[in-house]
Amino acid sequence: MRNVRFAPSEITQQIISKLAQEETGKRQYYRPVYSLHKWWARRPGAQFRSIILLATGGTDDLFDVDAKGVISEQSNYFRKHSLESTVILDPFMGGGTTLVEANRLGAKVIGCDINPVSFWIVRETLKPLDLERLESYFRQLEGSAGKDIRALYETTCVHCKTTQAETLYSFWVRYVNCTGCGKVVPLFKRALFNEGMSRNKPVSPTNPAVAFCPRCFALSQWHGRGLCSCEECGLSFDPQTGTYDQGYYTCPNCGRAKLSLIQTLKKGQCLRERLVALEYWCSRCGDRLYKTPDDKDLAKIEVAKREFDDRKAHDLTFPRSPILEGASSVRWRQHNYRLYYELFNARQLLAFNMLIDAIRAIPEEEYRNAFFTVFSNSLEYNNMMTPYNYPHRKLHHLFNYHAMPLTTTPVENAVWGVLDEGAGTFVNCYRRYYRAKLYCQKPFDRFKVAGNAISTVYVKGERIEANFTSSFEELRQTPSGAMLLCGDSAKLSAVPDKSVDFVITDPPYFDNIHYSELSNFFYVWLRTLVDHPYFTPEAVPIEHEAIVNAGMKKTDESYRHLLTSVFQECARVLKDEGYFIFTFHHTNWQAWWVVLSAVKDSGFSVVDSFPVSSEYKVNPHIRTKQALDMDLVLICEKAQPLGHPFSLDEVIEHSIGRLVLALDNGYRNKLFLDFMGELLKVGSVFQDITYDQFATALTRFDDLVGTYMAIERAENHKLQDDRQLELF
Ligand SMILES: C[S@@+](CC[C@H](N)C(=O)[O-])C[C@H]1O[C@@H](n2cnc3c(N)ncnc32)[C@H](O)[C@@H]1O
Ligand SMILES: [Zn+2]
Ligand SMILES: [Zn+2]
Ligand SMILES: [Zn+2]
Repeated sequence: MRNVRFAPSEITQQIISKLAQEETGKRQYYRPVYSLHKWWARRPGAQFRSIILLATGGTDDLFDVDAKGVISEQSNYFRKHSLESTVILDPFMGGGTTLVEANRLGAKVIGCDINPVSFWIVRETLKPLDLERLESYFRQLEGSAGKDIRALYETTCVHCKTTQAETLYSFWVRYVNCTGCGKVVPLFKRALFNEGMSRNKPVSPTNPAVAFCPRCFALSQWHGRGLCSCEECGLSFDPQTGTYDQGYYTCPNCGRAKLSLIQTLKKGQCLRERLVALEYWCSRCGDRLYKTPDDKDLAKIEVAKREFDDRKAHDLTFPRSPILEGASSVRWRQHNYRLYYELFNARQLLAFNMLIDAIRAIPEEEYRNAFFTVFSNSLEYNNMMTPYNYPHRKLHHLFNYHAMPLTTTPVENAVWGVLDEGAGTFVNCYRRYYRAKLYCQKPFDRFKVAGNAISTVYVKGERIEANFTSSFEELRQTPSGAMLLCGDSAKLSAVPDKSVDFVITDPPYFDNIHYSELSNFFYVWLRTLVDHPYFTPEAVPIEHEAIVNAGMKKTDESYRHLLTSVFQECARVLKDEGYFIFTFHHTNWQAWWVVLSAVKDSGFSVVDSFPVSSEYKVNPHIRTKQALDMDLVLICEKAQPLGHPFSLDEVIEHSIGRLVLALDNGYRNKLFLDFMGELLKVGSVFQDITYDQFATALTRFDDLVGTYMAIERAENHKLQDDRQLELF
């Protein structure tokens, strides 16, 4: 086995981790290009820039640091690099991190993904666009659809009585009839809309919270202690408790408790909803205020419903596709939502149509597509499954947990937007798109220097913008060429044998994120809007998606098979001396075992590895699923057909050096990945390794760490703070 030294020094690993963590915590600020449209679990750009530079430069001198540990802006990492003659392939391109970073460094890129939404986002990200023209089209939309949509949300201010106030958020409460007594039960977790009018102060008489009466829905103030008293009906109630939690409700009429909502719905009911409050912006009062909807507000909803019913059969654009069965979408289906458009209310669907009509009137296709992309992104914040982030007085986006949530207290956003208030409005999503494209014209890197000071380094001469090509030959001749493909990467027929210098990718993580299911939410809309052959199927193709998804009957075995087929195709197109580099993370040993067999069965061997932090530490998804907050970067070469000198005992010993080093950092995940890297390295050339041996090695690793941790505890070392982030 060749002993390739690819992994950078410990200090460089730490810097990459630091950059990656900062970026993931605040992507819009650090690398706005990745906020152009939602994609799940995007890898940090800094991580992939580092990998590409390590791969192409073959050095460990990415960063210079001074005595205080401050990164120098003169570091190699921030220099302009010329990778014009390098071809980099990402067969699982997802949100496009590899492609964007490689294009920025001047390389030619080939990207493929089975998911048309991924293709679309990457294409939108890399395409050239004139920002002045984009802005002028936006002004047109503002004067047409913008005006009409805002009128749908006009309301009367309860204080100054102006009729020009604008609704930011409409609060709904869903209800069912109790299966015991038949009476209506509103379903809510707590009877509060916020935790005080000022966001970062505790609720108090000077910072009262807004509560609603569980009986008559009148609004009242709560001062943070004791019960709340309804001024309308006199009911005393605790606003911190509700009728519903985690799928079960209690009937306030007959007192029956622990009634299952799903069972109730199975008996033929549908969730219905009632508008209970509005949060609005009054420019005359200069404030965000709450009110109970008045007759005019309720009439607006009724008019919208009627208009939608009248027009839905003939002249409205919206997806009519069913919500497919799957592990993530099962919750929506169990609650009797069967069609995608049922996730929106009539007012939202009408507002979308105003927008769609105005966008369709834009004469240039690439600008139309830009606005359809903005529209698609805004859907995540404009549907009837978004809960309210009540401590922060804003809306939670739909995919906060990489899942498809169900809420009984949805918040309806204002589709167009009101000034700069509110999150996820069309205006807001447009600004994000614009900033993403602006970043492409003048990319930068940002990092914390001392305290909270932040350094911004513009890399001269860099740009993110591709010339799209449709053949490999054309790609070879085109500066900043990009060949984007959509399909199963097991068949990259457009890519010749041994033509690619590096494969740099991030394969799906076993069962962690159900990309096709989640992305269908956007796909069904995009396909009604854009004119592209990849959007012909009714849903995102799943047959060849490498994923473990019990709800779709996709097993470990099919994942192994599909992953192996793609890896084999990578081996075919990769030059003999090229590197195949990928990142992976999972807590499940079986997932790693599958990755190991895919590597071996496609003729690769792992020659080096190193762990780097990736997801922001408090990412709620990571917390709840206890996934790793670090990635392992695995560097593979086409296997040398050598016998193997190591035994598994030797592997363990070999790893101890790195292990002890990492233990000093007290970081269990890093340890695990360090060890896994070593194990995969040896396992990939050790022909007869069985899963039992693999698992034995991991058990011994666990014992070793367990013992060390016990000693640590005895010595009173403070372990990691594992507090859960409470969002709801
Ligand atoms: C972990 S994601 C990549 C994320 C990406 N690195 C980023 O930063 O956004 C894995 C991707 O593999 C894609 N995929 C799964 N099976 C595939 C196949 N057979 N061919 C091509 N792409 C596939 C999924 O659609 C998903 O986008
Ligand atoms: Zn007012
Ligand atoms: Zn009852
Ligand atoms: Zn009341």
